[in-house]
Amino acid sequence: MKSESIKIGLVGLGTVGGGVYEILEKHRSLLAQRIGAPVEIKKIAVRSKGKKRGKKIPAALFTEDVGEILRDPEIRIVVEVMGGTKEAKTLAFAAIKAGKHLVTANKALLALHGKEVFTAAMKAKVDVCFEAAVGGGIPILRALREGFVANEIRSLYGIVNGTCNFILTEMSQKGADFQSTLKRAQELGYAEADPTFDIDGWDAAHKLAILVSIAYGVHVPLQKLFVEGIRRVSAFDLECAKRFGFEIKLLAIAKSQGGKIQARVHPTMIPAGSMLAAVRGVHNAISIDGDSVGEGMLYGAGAGSGPTASAVVGDIVEVARNLIAGVAYTVPPLGLYTDKVRDAAIESVGALRSSYYLRFQATDRPGVLSKIAAILGRHRISISSVYQNVREEGRVVPIVILTHEALEKDIQAAIAKVDRLEVMKEKTLLIRVEENCR
Ligand code: NAP
Ligand code: HSE
Repeated sequence: MKSESIKIGLVGLGTVGGGVYEILEKHRSLLAQRIGAPVEIKKIAVRSKGKKRGKKIPAALFTEDVGEILRDPEIRIVVEVMGGTKEAKTLAFAAIKAGKHLVTANKALLALHGKEVFTAAMKAKVDVCFEAAVGGGIPILRALREGFVANEIRSLYGIVNGTCNFILTEMSQKGADFQSTLKRAQELGYAEADPTFDIDGWDAAHKLAILVSIAYGVHVPLQKLFVEGIRRVSAFDLECAKRFGFEIKLLAIAKSQGGKIQARVHPTMIPAGSMLAAVRGVHNAISIDGDSVGEGMLYGAGAGSGPTASAVVGDIVEVARNLIAGVAYTVPPLGLYTDKVRDAAIESVGALRSSYYLRFQATDRPGVLSKIAAILGRHRISISSVYQNVREEGRVVPIVILTHEALEKDIQAAIAKVDRLEVMKEKTLLIRVEENCR
């Protein structure tokens, strides 16, 4: 065991940073044994030193100037848990340039600027670790990069946003309302600083971009992903889903076929008896189908202080062990050497074949259903079920249709026509169905 400690600069002491501090304190000697040397936080950069933190932390550790961390030659590992993309990007490049290893939980940073960050890290021969960026406490990235390395990945999909899963679970099981449940998710430390990233699907899209990058060894331009959030999913839709034997989950889905990759995030109807349907609250689960191993699933807490900090500390330990061994960059961030990483060929969502749940908000009057059915028929869309639970002539009521498998391009064209009917009072809601999900 080395007596000299490995020094860390922690940038951010919020939900995640606070958890990292607690674990490093609580497991100081256990981690030292596991690493072969103690790790020590030498400086903590925060936005405001004066803020009350409810933790006994020596005042001398705090700074409002990240430069103090960057300029300190003793600090070998910079842990970025402040969030955002602008300042975080500046910090990441400055840390790499200063020869420091980087641990980050920042999926937005990596989804937007991963290519440049990884290239800079490869040139500087420093590690960039980001396990906490996807799946909270689930070691999904390490599993994908190392445990599944022998496989071609045929598909991966799952629940990767704890906030949305918490909201959908509370709405479905307790009839809770959207806004107050989102507020609770924020109080529990699950949501992003700007929670629209969660509910509009962008946080899941950032994570999907990272997963796809590692699974298929590609860079994923974010704008190529199809992204839809959960704002329009209502208690009525959750109730209807149950009636049809489904649950609604926000899924991130990637499938590879013939050199093209489907990559999409959207609310999805999945069989009520599937394993994913049983993933509740803040939990995440990701199913991976590899050509040798077959299909498996990883499950655990997807957000919050302890679980996320557990993943960050796992990365700190990896870097610290590398420092002791005198190596770096032994496992490249995307699982293959970055100069071999090509740009992803992402298939347009229009090419998707799926069955669909369609909710029309229409004035209840004779002939409405036949008009909708006629338009669907003209677009080669076959109906499997129809449901209307209220009969209020002249009032706006929901009409639900489940379709057989159809081409998304046809569905979109049909909906655009239906929405132009005079009886339609709201944009039609479409939810894709994944009948075969585990
Ligand atoms: P948070 O609770 O809002 O904490 C942010 C921390 O960063 C605060 O301590 C803040 O300082 C500090 N900070 C902000 N701007 C700074 C700057 N310019 N210089 C120095 N310090 C600065 O955020 P969080 O929930 O811990 O999330 C942090 C990161 O982890 C984000 O990238 C997020 O996406 C990611 N993440 C979060 C979770 C989760 O469950 N929360 C899970 C996985 C990944 P003050 O304390 O002085 O305001
Ligand atoms: N806001 C994110 C979520 C945090 O709810 O999943 C974990 O990445």
